[in-house]
Amino acid sequence: MHFSQILVGATAFLSTGVVAQLSGTVGPKTSVASKTAKKKCSVLDYGAKADKTTDLGPPLASAFAACKTGGTIVIPSGDYALKTWVTLNGGSAWALQIDGIIYRTGTAGGNMIFIEHTSDVEVFSSTGKGAIQGNGYEFHAQGSRSGPRILRTYDVDRFSVHDLILVDSPAFHFSMDTCKNGEVYNMAIRGGNWGGLDGVDVWSTNMWIHDIMVTNKDECVTVKSPSTNILIENIYCNWSGGCALGSLGANTAISKIQYKNVYTWNSNQMMMIKSNGGSGYAEDLVFENFIGHGNAYSLDIDQYWSSMSTIAGDGVKLTNVTMKNWKGTEANGAQRGPIKIACADGAPCTELTISDFAMWTETGSKQTYTCRSGYGSGFCLKASGSASYAAVTSTVSAAPSGYSAATMADDLKTAFGTTVSIPIPTMPASFFPGATPISALAGS
Ligand SMILES: *[C@@H]1O[C@H](CO)[C@@H](O)[C@H](O)[C@H]1NC(C)=O
Ligand SMILES: *[C@@H]1O[C@H](CO)[C@@H](O)[C@H](O)[C@H]1NC(C)=O
Repeated sequence: MHFSQILVGATAFLSTGVVAQLSGTVGPKTSVASKTAKKKCSVLDYGAKADKTTDLGPPLASAFAACKTGGTIVIPSGDYALKTWVTLNGGSAWALQIDGIIYRTGTAGGNMIFIEHTSDVEVFSSTGKGAIQGNGYEFHAQGSRSGPRILRTYDVDRFSVHDLILVDSPAFHFSMDTCKNGEVYNMAIRGGNWGGLDGVDVWSTNMWIHDIMVTNKDECVTVKSPSTNILIENIYCNWSGGCALGSLGANTAISKIQYKNVYTWNSNQMMMIKSNGGSGYAEDLVFENFIGHGNAYSLDIDQYWSSMSTIAGDGVKLTNVTMKNWKGTEANGAQRGPIKIACADGAPCTELTISDFAMWTETGSKQTYTCRSGYGSGFCLKASGSASYAAVTSTVSAAPSGYSAATMADDLKTAFGTTVSIPIPTMPASFFPGATPISALAGS
């Protein structure tokens, strides 16, 4: 454990009785009701029209200016066009209620909605039907990834984003950069079947991210550096890239990250830690209760990741990583076995624990487990030592007992592609087999 983490552990959090992985209270300080009671700023009073043509950008900026020091900005139900991007900068104790559907019509890069330097903020849909339709296919069909991201938060403290639907971003869907004490939940994110269209990316402190569905072909819910005290649970990667840590480079500083109840279907991996060279650490990580079906990789620690160029340094040091209760099946276990651990030879992994792990192949009748420079317990990991070692592979030709695991009735059967409009989904009732959302879905 690093010294800086000890300092944040003392806040008055015990009363809520939740989750050890967090270091303190998350979410806005004051309720939407109290914000709305103070002041309500409907975009319709600032020139917006629900005609799918009039630019929502300037009215939203004006409504924000009027309510940013305390109040609720409301986008009522109806269809709006967003032609110019909006930065919601500063203020505090405000909420943004998106009950309408916002269609991107502008073509600039950047972020359609960018929230920064603010606190006590809630961005949500009161009906669970509010959505932002990025119409990314208009770019993607031309082979272009140059369009905007949908939503980005930077330097935001005590906030929540919930019950919103983000669709077909031209680039990333939702990034949280250097934020703290946030809660993100009840979100459906659906993008094109391409790399570069990340679902949720977070590099922040003390965050609770739960009940999220992501369809795309890149990051599902991914943690980047620096990050600490992040709890991610009830995640449905419904035809995605899958969840990951990374990619990690120089001076990586990641600690106390827990993923729990992650269901991954038809993705690149169930969980990946990806780097190639670099330095720093990722430690005190827990990946528990994972179910996978139809994925290429399952557990994939790749510190020689070929999709990034090698960065100077001996490697990012992984310590104290627990993988427990993984079940299900992988697409082809002889091609890509369910455990692939390739730690940096210059910084071997230590204290890795793999337990209660049972997965089996959907194709053929054998699968492999591979370990390189990793120490700890379970499967092909070496129990003791600290020197690098070459990859050791074992092959098994019988299914482990207890591998079978539930599927979700709603698993996507065909990708959305990148050339035609992607329909706005409704919020799923559940994000993990047998689990109900931790907070009731809005409008349910
Ligand atoms: C390992 O990480 C877990 C999860 O963050 C933590 O609870 C535990 O204290 C860590 N163990 C050590 C020896 O630091
Ligand atoms: C997964 O994607 C499919 C296709 O969009 C959708 O029908 C289904 O509702 C999604 N699953 C969930 C739980 O949202």
